[in-house]
Amino acid sequence: MLIRYKKRLEKIAMGLLSFMPDEKEVKRLQDTIKEYETNDHWQLFLWKVEEDILGAVGVNVDSESKLVTLQHITVDPSHRNLGIGKKMVQAVKEYYPSFQVQPNDQTEKFLDKCKQS
Ligand SMILES: CC(C)(COP(=O)(O)OP(=O)(O)OC[C@H]1O[C@@H](n2cnc3c(N)ncnc32)[C@H](O)[C@@H]1OP(=O)(O)O)[C@@H](O)C(=O)NCCC(=O)NCCS
Repeated sequence: MLIRYKKRLEKIAMGLLSFMPDEKEVKRLQDTIKEYETNDHWQLFLWKVEEDILGAVGVNVDSESKLVTLQHITVDPSHRNLGIGKKMVQAVKEYYPSFQVQPNDQTEKFLDKCKQS
């Protein structure tokens, strides 16, 4: 299930975000997590299965234009190809029912993949 990011989950969240191709540098990763902690438009969610955190999905919410931009999506490498990524996309859509969910350059390929299935 989707849960909201909390500061106590910072290490786990950073570990998951580091799998994004553009988040390899520690400084960049620290800036990204700080933005999720301080910018009201940036919302980070984690995917919890029983006691394990297996994925992260981060969005930018524009309430005026009713757009949710999928900025980051990552799944723990040992739990990939089990449908978690697609479930996270679906859960984000359900979390923001009156919004349109769109990708950015970093998430476009996987979001396209989700539309196909
Ligand atoms: C992308 C990612 C989140 C998918 O998570 P997942 O839980 O393995 O995804 P699912 O099990 O729901 O879906 C698997 C399908 O997505 C495909 N897929 C995996 N990564 C993909 C990508 N970057 N672009 C397009 N399709 C991708 C798989 O080939 C598989 O296809 P199939 O169903 O035809 O076999 C995961 O691979 C990941 O964390 N990648 C590293 C981070 C990343 O690059 N994120 C941005 C992706 S654009």
